[in-house]
Amino acid sequence: MPARYDRNIATEIINRFGAKPEMLVQILHAFVERYSFIAEDAIRQIADELNLSRAEVHGVVSFYHDFRTKPAGKRVIKICQAEACQAMGSRKLTAHAEKKTGVALGGTDEDGELTLEAVYCLGNCACSPAVMDGDRVYGRVDAKGFDRILARGRRQ
Ligand code: FES
Repeated sequence: MPARYDRNIATEIINRFGAKPEMLVQILHAFVERYSFIAEDAIRQIADELNLSRAEVHGVVSFYHDFRTKPAGKRVIKICQAEACQAMGSRKLTAHAEKKTGVALGGTDEDGELTLEAVYCLGNCACSPAVMDGDRVYGRVDAKGFDRILARGRRQ
């Protein structure tokens, strides 16, 4: 369960990085570590305290795939979308995963159980396409392989 947003703790995090605008990415990482996502309140507060516009903070948040703006599901499955995996069919695999789970890439199901996320290289290019389920990486994943990964998590 993500920690509840607290303005004082947010200020502490920002001050840990000297409240410097050039430390924005590190500050955002620290927010994700604490809250698991960057809430709209956080964007507002970070912008105010770093003397940046909200649009500037939003721009950085949307540029980096690591920065979620909504809480993730209990289970996060990442499908690599980088070049080597694309060459080996990750787009087709993603379409299958979306159809199978009913969750669009970047989204979470209504029950908050599953998030499907894009990732850009899992360091497993030799065995692409690659998928990460929690902290486990799988290689050469095809549609059947994805179904097995999905079922495995459900049995746990
Ligand atoms: S490109 Fe997918 S694991 Fe490297």
